[in-house]
Amino acid sequence: MASLGQIIFWCLMVSIFVTAGLLVFILSVSFSVKGSQVSQDIVDSSDKWPIGNLGEDVILSCRFRTSTSDMELTSRVSIIWNMEGRSEVVYEYDKGTVQLTGQDPRFKKRTLLFSDAIGSGNASLLLRNVNLRDSGVYQCSVTAPRGSGTAIVNLRVAAYSAPTLELMNTTLTAVAARWFPKPNVTWLNANDTVLNKSITSFFNDSIGINKLISSLQVTQLGNYTCIIQNQLVKAVSLATITDNETSSRTSFSFVAAVAPRVLL
Ligand SMILES: *[C@@H]1O[C@H](CO)[C@@H](O)[C@H](O)[C@H]1NC(C)=O
Ligand SMILES: *[C@@H]1O[C@H](CO)[C@@H](O)[C@H](O)[C@H]1NC(C)=O
Ligand SMILES: *[C@@H]1O[C@H](CO)[C@@H](O)[C@H](O)[C@H]1NC(C)=O
Ligand SMILES: *[C@@H]1O[C@H](CO)[C@@H](O)[C@H](O)[C@H]1NC(C)=O
Ligand SMILES: *[C@@H]1O[C@H](CO)[C@@H](O)[C@H](O)[C@H]1NC(C)=O
Ligand SMILES: *[C@@H]1O[C@H](CO)[C@@H](O)[C@H](O)[C@H]1NC(C)=O
Ligand SMILES: *[C@@H]1O[C@H](CO)[C@@H](O)[C@H](O)[C@H]1NC(C)=O
Ligand SMILES: *[C@@H]1O[C@H](CO)[C@@H](O)[C@H](O)[C@H]1NC(C)=O
Repeated sequence: MASLGQIIFWCLMVSIFVTAGLLVFILSVSFSVKGSQVSQDIVDSSDKWPIGNLGEDVILSCRFRTSTSDMELTSRVSIIWNMEGRSEVVYEYDKGTVQLTGQDPRFKKRTLLFSDAIGSGNASLLLRNVNLRDSGVYQCSVTAPRGSGTAIVNLRVAAYSAPTLELMNTTLTAVAARWFPKPNVTWLNANDTVLNKSITSFFNDSIGINKLISSLQVTQLGNYTCIIQNQLVKAVSLATITDNETSSRTSFSFVAAVAPRVLL
């Protein structure tokens, strides 16, 4: 039988451990909340998964919090863009001056910040003439008077272009000049029923960008939809065939995150 003293002793020990455990738990929760607030609130990206169109320009979005009373903010802000796996910087702006001596040659003459907008918290990077090697994880690190932080932007690169649609006799043909990765093509009638009697040919150029020609035999006037899509981009073209003309319009949509990035 345990004595009364022993019971009191063990009760005390247990309550001390429980209290200590609770304290550690509460502290760690409040610190992790605070930590994520710093990186999310001070610096953030409004588009964490942009898709660049090969050969065109893309904006890697990044903004930081400012207060309107921050006069001459640009001379007190440092912005560094890095790419994961590259040791040299993509772009560096240090307290009012552009510092490109240590810039990765891969990005030479292809990058700039919107210098007029830095004062209002815009740290977005314009990347010109996007190529496949540009796809990857970018880090926007800002040190500003109100604090510092980092935003992550995942750039994916594809090629996409709207098709032109033409009717010749009873053949409706879609021609699109630039697609990468290789897409598939689906035709639908006005009732959104898949029409499987279409023929699609691909012609890839030396760097693997596909031109495509897809033909559908049409049996009646009305609306037809041509969908061209790959893992990243989907182009939906609506063609309207009347007895004297064929018109079409295309809208693009982009696939969001491929996989959540785990940040520790
Ligand atoms: C930054 O400025 C550029 C040019 O005005 C604009 O296109 C872009 O959307 C802005 N980005 C942010 C995050 O404000
Ligand atoms: C279209 O139809 C006309 C007459 O019906 C025919 O002469 C012509 O060869 C056809 N064109 C094509 C591209 O099939
Ligand atoms: C669409 O469906 C309606 C009713 O089911 C039918 O009458 C019509 O012919 C269909 N149109 C096409 C283009 O298949
Ligand atoms: C095409 O559609 C028809 C009926 O709509 C169906 O009988 C046929 O099996 C389909 N062909 C293929 C290759 O899916
Ligand atoms: C181009 O297409 C050919 C045949 O369709 C294929 O063998 C080749 O791998 C393609 N090239 C590229 C770069 O995708
Ligand atoms: C074709 O689509 C347009 C736009 O969605 C619509 O205004 C029009 O009524 C449609 N025409 C037919 C024949 O379904
Ligand atoms: C076409 O490609 C998309 C994206 O890669 C895929 O989700 C879809 O299943 C494909 N459709 C067909 C009919 O192969
Ligand atoms: C086709 O016909 C419609 C009405 O009948 C007319 O408004 C339109 O201008 C014509 N389009 C062409 C290309 O002739």
